[in-house]
Amino acid sequence: DKQQDLQGKCVLISAGSTVEPLDPVRYLSNNSTGKMGFSIAQAAQQRGAEVILVAGPNHLALPTGVNYQPVKTAQQMEQKMLEFYPQADFVIMAAAVADFRPMRTAEQKIKKTGLDQLTLELVRNPDILLELGNRKQQQLLVGFAAETQQLLANATAKMQRKKVDLLVANDVSRADVGFGTSQNEVVFLRPQADPQLVSKRSKSAIADKIFDLLLDLDHQRRK
Ligand code: C5P
Repeated sequence: DKQQDLQGKCVLISAGSTVEPLDPVRYLSNNSTGKMGFSIAQAAQQRGAEVILVAGPNHLALPTGVNYQPVKTAQQMEQKMLEFYPQADFVIMAAAVADFRPMRTAEQKIKKTGLDQLTLELVRNPDILLELGNRKQQQLLVGFAAETQQLLANATAKMQRKKVDLLVANDVSRADVGFGTSQNEVVFLRPQADPQLVSKRSKSAIADKIFDLLLDLDHQRRK
């Protein structure tokens, strides 16, 4: 049995990908499976937190005892995150939100007849994490950064821009960790602190490290 050190805390987590519909049967999405976010939700629940899990479509088993809020699009995810944000103590944006969505969703299936090319027009989705950062009150906010190059430079810029208390950066060009696997190797970045490498381990062990750090920050703040 785990220590119930998150008792009394409300933890809001986003997980998985978003899907952005093109027509009734097609969509744009990405490779995120939701494993990292679900591992975080399970860790929080086992340590005694009240957990709200906002997740895109996935094939994962639902952790017991969490308030599960399924969504499809980035706009739906944004709405749910904003709805639960005021009551949350720790907020973790582990979802891989689609940066763009189709400008229009066709009401009927798009036909290929007579077409050699098809151009899709896309519009920017809201940056949910950026919005949460701008509205931050008591919450400690965690973001993720999936990078394929210049991990530290890109992630540091992201941490500052999105006003997060912790940015979990990972190199998604590696096949042995990250997307779809059960392990991850990450770097923790915090404002005014040196980067901290968290060597390769299970996603649930990474989740525990995140909460250890958040509890530390929370205690420091209350001193
Ligand atoms: O900007 P980038 O997508 O690399 O940043 C990653 C972080 O921002 C993740 O925590 C992700 O959940 C969040 N994000 C978001 N809304 C977006 C894009 C990313 O909340 N539209």
